[in-house]
Amino acid sequence: MKKTIGIASDHAGFHLKEYLKKRMEDWGYKVIDMGTNSEKSVDYPDYAYSLSKRVSDGEIPFGVLICGTGIGMCMTANKVKGIRAALCWNEYTAKLSRLHNNANILCLGGRVITPEVADGILKVWLGESFEGGRHGKRLEKIRRIERSIANG
Ligand code: RB5
Repeated sequence: MKKTIGIASDHAGFHLKEYLKKRMEDWGYKVIDMGTNSEKSVDYPDYAYSLSKRVSDGEIPFGVLICGTGIGMCMTANKVKGIRAALCWNEYTAKLSRLHNNANILCLGGRVITPEVADGILKVWLGESFEGGRHGKRLEKIRRIERSIANG
């Protein structure tokens, strides 16, 4: 069975999204593209929320969000319950975001990294798994904070 992955971007991430979508398809992933579909200016929170909600609801296990810097996408995604979005800029941060943080969304900056660097980051990110152990306890603390905020 093909592994499914969601991807979305704003206008500033559009070209990198198209490039990475193609790469993931080449690697055998079933890619769900949630837009945007051109360089026409759009608001990144709309795209971050749509994809994050589907990950949060368990419809898609992992997602990739791309804007100019990756920052706005990451801020928005992390407001959604159960989302652990990580802004990564090299293979090391990508690797650790999976091993230690069990990131379920990868955020990238289309204006700050080249397609080649993004390709390497994505490959590493998709290939690593959560280590568990002491890191599990820390993620549980994040979940507790999330719950306490949700309950006022
Ligand atoms: C759009 O100009 C830009 O602000 C956006 O892509 C992103 O970088 C925000 O964090």
